[in-house]
Amino acid sequence: MSDSVSHSVSDSVSRSVSRRSALRLVGGAIAVAAAATAGVAVPSHAAARARQGPGAGPRVESLIGKLTLDEKISLLHGATDPKSLGQAGYVPGVPRLKIPPLRLADGPAGVRVTARATALPAPVLLASAFDPALARRYGQVIGREGRALRQDVLLSPMVNLIRTPYAGRNFETFGEDPLLAADLVAAEIKGIQGEGLIATVKHFALNNQEKDRMSIDVRADERTMHETELRGFEAAVAAGTGAVMGAYNKVNGTFACENKTLLGDILRDQWGFDGWVMTDWFAQHSTAAALAAGLDMEMPDDAYFGAALKKAVRNGSVPEAQVDRSVRRILGVMDRFGLLGKSVPPRPGRDPKAGAAVALEVAKAGATLLRNAHRTLPLTGRAARDIAVIGPTGRYPFVSGGGSAHVVPDRADSPLDAIRARAGHGADVTYALGEDLYGKAVPRRALSPGFDPEGQRVAAGKEWTYEGTLTPAEPDEWTLVIHYSGERPKVELDGTELYPTLPGVGEYFSGGLVSTAPDGLNVRRATLRLTAAGHRLRIKAKGGEKGQTFRLRRVTGATRAADVDRAVRAARGAHSVILFAYEDATEGQDRTSVALPGHQEHLIRAVTAANPRTTVVLNTSSATSMPWLERTAAVLQMYYPGQEGAAGTAAVLFGDCDPGGRLTQSFPVDDDHHPMAGDPRRYPGVDGVEEYSEGIHVGYRWYDAEGVRPLFPFGHGLSYTTFDYRDPAVRRSGRGLDVSFTVRNTGRRDGVTVAQVYLGPSPDLELAQAERALGGYRRIALRAGERRRVTVHVDGRALSAWDVERHGWVRGTGRRTLQVGTSAGDLILSATTVVKGAGS
Ligand code: BGC
Repeated sequence: MSDSVSHSVSDSVSRSVSRRSALRLVGGAIAVAAAATAGVAVPSHAAARARQGPGAGPRVESLIGKLTLDEKISLLHGATDPKSLGQAGYVPGVPRLKIPPLRLADGPAGVRVTARATALPAPVLLASAFDPALARRYGQVIGREGRALRQDVLLSPMVNLIRTPYAGRNFETFGEDPLLAADLVAAEIKGIQGEGLIATVKHFALNNQEKDRMSIDVRADERTMHETELRGFEAAVAAGTGAVMGAYNKVNGTFACENKTLLGDILRDQWGFDGWVMTDWFAQHSTAAALAAGLDMEMPDDAYFGAALKKAVRNGSVPEAQVDRSVRRILGVMDRFGLLGKSVPPRPGRDPKAGAAVALEVAKAGATLLRNAHRTLPLTGRAARDIAVIGPTGRYPFVSGGGSAHVVPDRADSPLDAIRARAGHGADVTYALGEDLYGKAVPRRALSPGFDPEGQRVAAGKEWTYEGTLTPAEPDEWTLVIHYSGERPKVELDGTELYPTLPGVGEYFSGGLVSTAPDGLNVRRATLRLTAAGHRLRIKAKGGEKGQTFRLRRVTGATRAADVDRAVRAARGAHSVILFAYEDATEGQDRTSVALPGHQEHLIRAVTAANPRTTVVLNTSSATSMPWLERTAAVLQMYYPGQEGAAGTAAVLFGDCDPGGRLTQSFPVDDDHHPMAGDPRRYPGVDGVEEYSEGIHVGYRWYDAEGVRPLFPFGHGLSYTTFDYRDPAVRRSGRGLDVSFTVRNTGRRDGVTVAQVYLGPSPDLELAQAERALGGYRRIALRAGERRRVTVHVDGRALSAWDVERHGWVRGTGRRTLQVGTSAGDLILSATTVVKGAGS
């Protein structure tokens, strides 16, 4: 692995450069937003203080008095960092007044710079643990590392809800339930900021898909926004987040980064946010409108908040007081974090060991066992000693997803090695690739004139061109795979460019595993039918500044069949099979189907036919359809499990711990049965407009409302032991309710259950309500035979709905049902209670 790690260090630098140009291209195509905000109206009922900035104390006020206009403006936009560690953003500060620079780094699964950091499991895996205390520790690791790696601001957490199973960033966020997301974001922010790193909750708001993310106009009504997507942001503000990142998209007609309703009425007036708002990268579209609406900082450059802002202040079209207001908000947060004082908090060293320990703990706690027929797992006896491991991510660890959440890991072991180590001496653990992601050498005889397709090196500053003929031995489907460092070579077959720049995506937004070879080279693929008559091949490679390496490889129908055959033979020859399946997601693009990509479904069918004692381990980003489910013995959802994923996966497979995770999103049966299916206005949008017409029925609420059965419901996940739930009782507690019940571990192993309390509708509210909504939950670890009385608090907010007439929360009074269970589809206990008005 060390090769691959050190390569990806330099790789991520080149990616961030090409990404800038990619984003510029996309941004350039977007029309400047109309200033008017349609739709939502939310009243001011607090926090004039927040509108004006934190009123941040004498130090900040005195600095504002001393800053020149140029200096003030320099605090409101990004610039190039002379001492960059490869982070996403930089604000130079004002050395004359001892205002230090700010370095801003992604991201959601660890600190994203060019140096190594702890690559934590993806946030969706963290969320699966249903454990805010763990989220806090996850935040602490990132907070400390961010400070140690010379960063001041973290561009995370991401709290947008999972609304569509296709969204490319579902792995970066927490799930489909607003309450769970709110709890976790608040805990993680406390963890991050407790270490002195400023958190940035993102992407505000309604950024729930990648398709057309730079321009899509998301239409959602006021109640839907407050009851679904906004709850996490509100919780982040209540937890004290220093910064908020505005989203790329429009919300009800106006770009999020200049949306007065979002940035002024809701964020400042309603929630009392007194930190600063920055743009997503290149998400700004105006100067005066954005500043007036409440945007404070442009990232990563100065297209609107640089010379244009100065001119606007000079000609009187923007009052300088508005500039001061933004400066006050930024300096106010810096002051709160001790960055403006004489004794700036010292930076700690990294603690990679502690980071790795949390990464492992999260991987185990979030591991979600979806199926376990005949108690296939944990592996014991022969099943634990005679194993065939199959699949590319069984050998090459799938550490993290692509895009800005990608982290350069300290280390990452192969799951195959971890399984071998755990199976121990004398065990027989074989391996077969099954599905080839990186290709096999192109035979030299297929190229005329010949060249070495396995390792061309073009020296710095040089160019290399090949023109010849590619002739397969027989007609076949070929996937031509190119591996390269540096600038992507231009490859043409019969005059058609095989690897063009992807529109709206660019080089940067490639995925984590599939687009990177085991030795770190970038990978692109093109699939076409080749005839035996031969094809004109032209390759042009440039050595650039550092020289370039590339390889040309292939996967053909024949090599694919041979890989499947080898996998089938390995499966037949072993007692049990662990088949790793993958799906590679990244920001910048959505998935096109919930099915596993490539030929993996065929591989699973072939392998399970050869050996039904097959466990499928999923290294996927989000919901997956499983037409092959019944053929498997077990399915373990590991998502992108971070740098300790191999050990975490092995620990669960062999039963060193109970699989602790539960789904935070409903898994649909197929592409036709989920909240977005069959309605393009809902997803991906029509004529640039996307409607949240499912209203408050996000996720499992939609499945309940429509009577559609998911493949796996929200909250689902199996344990290796069994639990008994009984004796529910409900009583009033403050503005909320306490729901108590007794849980007993009835099995012979220690284990974890996640008790979930679902709340039924209020008869007194004349509104469409969810049939059931998560009101509270508790992760409970019990030893074999242990029994515990558990109380879950359902807070006043969970009992309320958003009233569009009063523009506020209204209590859902009357007789309400509370159900306790282990998923939205497995409700074991039920109780009712009468909810009274707040004052009674
Ligand atoms: C992403 C953000 C990220 C930023 C900086 C954007 O493209 O949407 O989530 O923080 O880049 O890397």
